[in-house]
Amino acid sequence: MNNSWQTLYEMAQTIKNKRLADLFSQDKDRVQKFSLSVDEVYLDYSKNFIDDATMTALVDFAQTCELPQKVKHLFSGESVNNTENRPALHTALRQCSSTSLSVNGENIIASIKSQKEKMFRLVNELHQGIFHGATGKKITDVVNLGIGGSDLGPAMAVEALNDYQQTPIKLHFVSNIDPDAISSVLKECDCATTLFIISSKSFTTPETLENAKVAKEWLQKGLKTQEVVKHFVAVTANPEKAHAFGILPENILCFWEWVGGRYSIWSTIGLPLAIAIGLENYEEFLLGARKMDEHFKEAPIEQNMPVILGLLGWWYIHGWQGTTIAVLPYSERLKRFADYLQQLDMESNGKSVDKQGERLGYATGPIVWGQAGTNGQHAFYQLLHQGTHFIPIDFIVFKHSNSVLAEQHKHLIANAIAQAAALMHGSDTSAKFAHEHMPGNKPSNMLMLEKLTPRALGQLLALYEHKVYVQGVLWDINSFDQPGVELGKKLAKKVVECINHKKAEATMDASTQSLIEKVITSD
Ligand code: F6P
Repeated sequence: MNNSWQTLYEMAQTIKNKRLADLFSQDKDRVQKFSLSVDEVYLDYSKNFIDDATMTALVDFAQTCELPQKVKHLFSGESVNNTENRPALHTALRQCSSTSLSVNGENIIASIKSQKEKMFRLVNELHQGIFHGATGKKITDVVNLGIGGSDLGPAMAVEALNDYQQTPIKLHFVSNIDPDAISSVLKECDCATTLFIISSKSFTTPETLENAKVAKEWLQKGLKTQEVVKHFVAVTANPEKAHAFGILPENILCFWEWVGGRYSIWSTIGLPLAIAIGLENYEEFLLGARKMDEHFKEAPIEQNMPVILGLLGWWYIHGWQGTTIAVLPYSERLKRFADYLQQLDMESNGKSVDKQGERLGYATGPIVWGQAGTNGQHAFYQLLHQGTHFIPIDFIVFKHSNSVLAEQHKHLIANAIAQAAALMHGSDTSAKFAHEHMPGNKPSNMLMLEKLTPRALGQLLALYEHKVYVQGVLWDINSFDQPGVELGKKLAKKVVECINHKKAEATMDASTQSLIEKVITSD
């Protein structure tokens, strides 16, 4: 921790005693000062505990963390993922320049182009009905089998862009190893016309491979043939394993180790989205992200949207000991956005050692949660308004709806704007009883976009990706590894073996042994 951490902490203790509403009356230019636009995204961050002095101090702090240099490192392919000694080049997946970029001696721009072309060919064949299953029938249902980054991005985006669907092909997503997940999808499908996408960067993830096995057996049984390979496509960074599973080479789409799972929607992992919204819309989605990349790369840090969001989040964790952030999109189509963001942010910045491997003496990534408005208003907003926890909020609204029900959409936006104001102002002091008093002074950001289009979604996702990177830099952590998920995976493997052999291991703790015994004896 350097001096500016202490200075910023002291500044936070001073400003937290002020009323947000008073900051507005003291500065008539506040909204103008603390808002900015990037392409179609408008951010109003004026309802935060900031003033000119704190913003200057926060920007200085970002400078002392060498943020501008580290942004350059991200884009140029430095090994920002230091523990795995590789770059994190998801931005290269959406760039359009043909300037070569080399990773381990390979021009990745050429490889990205060739995999994208392969994916586009497949999408065209599916749309034109010339991609056939074993019986020669065209495909009507596509089931994505994947988990984490191989599910959350495409599943969220297909739902978000439902109004841009270009095909009668139905998209399904199965991630959980719970048999109920795959069973309910298979019930809706006809094996002669169903294509499975096995999406797995590693091609070793047990949930995905177990579901793929079930799919294979379902096809063999239903089609009464062992020749079911025509019903599988693989998307992976481990083509050898996909090949060993029996996937045809022409049906294997690749991506690369330098694409983090939670950043992989821009790679061939985006196949289900490209099938759903078509290639033109898919290009728009990439373009949106590219616009945000250009802004992140070029805008000065005091006018840089991901930097501002990152600094504000850091400010509340540091100065308020805030542990959580609520992200509340006023859009039914974004109902899976919080799930997606949870992996993006919490798997990236849920870390407790710095890049040198030293244990940190400060808090890092927040607990991210939320759901689509207005549903939350009738569930957990009570706690936001009158509870005891400090919870900064990101509201997300779209000025226009894809629906023709414009009047209803007006109500939706009005609710988001009203909630942000109510949280800031609270009620006046005339409440008769203490329990009726609304303290207010709750900070929030408002992200306002024109319309939920492919381009807008691309911008929004890239905005949050970069915000997460900024915070990783401020905390000096590696945002691109996830060793924390490994131990549980290994133990689950061991427990399955114990259940299969009907014997718990003596080295296991008594509670684990007894739980395994209970499962075994109920067999
Ligand atoms: O949950 C851990 C994780 O490794 C994620 O990072 C990843 O997105 C997910 O599992 C799925 O991994 P894969 O794409 O290799 O199947």
